[in-house]
Amino acid sequence: MKKSSLFSIAAVASAAALALTGCSGSTDTAKSTRACVILPDADSGTRWESGDRPALEKGLTDAGFEADIQNAQSDAAKYATIADSQLTKGCGVMVLVDYQGAGIEVAKKAKEQGVPVIAYDRPIAGADYYVSFDNNTVGALQGQMILDGLAAAGKDPKTASIIYSSGDPTDGNAKMFLDGALSVLDPAGAKAAFTMTGTWDGAKAGTLFEQAFTAVKGKVDAVLAPNDNNAASIIAILDKNKLTVPVSGQDASVAGLQNVLLGKQTATVYKPFQLEVAAAIDVISKLLKGETVTTDKKLDDGTPYIAVDPVSVGPDKVKDVVADGNAKAADICTADVAAACAKYGVN
Ligand code: BGC
Repeated sequence: MKKSSLFSIAAVASAAALALTGCSGSTDTAKSTRACVILPDADSGTRWESGDRPALEKGLTDAGFEADIQNAQSDAAKYATIADSQLTKGCGVMVLVDYQGAGIEVAKKAKEQGVPVIAYDRPIAGADYYVSFDNNTVGALQGQMILDGLAAAGKDPKTASIIYSSGDPTDGNAKMFLDGALSVLDPAGAKAAFTMTGTWDGAKAGTLFEQAFTAVKGKVDAVLAPNDNNAASIIAILDKNKLTVPVSGQDASVAGLQNVLLGKQTATVYKPFQLEVAAAIDVISKLLKGETVTTDKKLDDGTPYIAVDPVSVGPDKVKDVVADGNAKAADICTADVAAACAKYGVN
């Protein structure tokens, strides 16, 4: 199944490459073939540097772009400085992952200079297109993990003590994830015993969870965690308290997949980077050719939204992520995870 999706990526990439070759006679080639990308941070999870960067580098280069990919390292001022220097050199397109709203001003500047802007993964007001996964579905899959985990533990969601946590509220995705989760949890009668302040900072998530744990007097039946990075900090505290309960996650990170295999995290939402990059390149190539881009969805502010389908990955599907090349068995199957890898065929 995954194999065929990778074939379609190749097709998209070569279509985009053809589109760019068509422009090669133009005097503006250097400018029009530079793709300027800004990633948000290197510590809200491992995805941006180890997943998105190589996928964007490969996808954009295969499509005929010169990829200028930089990381704002959790610094809004740095985000703006990077953007200014990229725009000075010239960008044929800007692919921006927002960091705490810093993308809005950059999108505005780029647009003023006639540079099209793709909001990649996170929404940015004023971008031409928003390319991401279906983030309501991501949340719905997380809500389902909590219900499945509670059912497996023989617990009723109506009476279970569930801690709700969510991502950084300045990231428009966080609300979509939570809304999606609630669309599954509310009808099942689940309620929050405690709601944590949202953050993408793993260390902060740990501290906030400790406070939540104290507030509910240690009675925790499940934790709705927005991503693997938050989940890992939460699981460390559950471990310390000798508790194993359903915990959700997202990103299919190495740490997340290990927790899934160890039964400490119910599942993770897998979002193959290559599919997101392919969707972005498809939009870019159509934009540069002046073709219409059709989208199924729109954000509330009207931004057209290309939403790729995410996949829920429990222990038996970890091997699929490895088969896709998006995690290495050697990284996952260390020490105490080795036995679970053998059990679930991860090699
Ligand atoms: C992304 C998640 C990621 C989180 C923290 C969100 O916008 O969609 O995949 O875990 O940011 O970086």
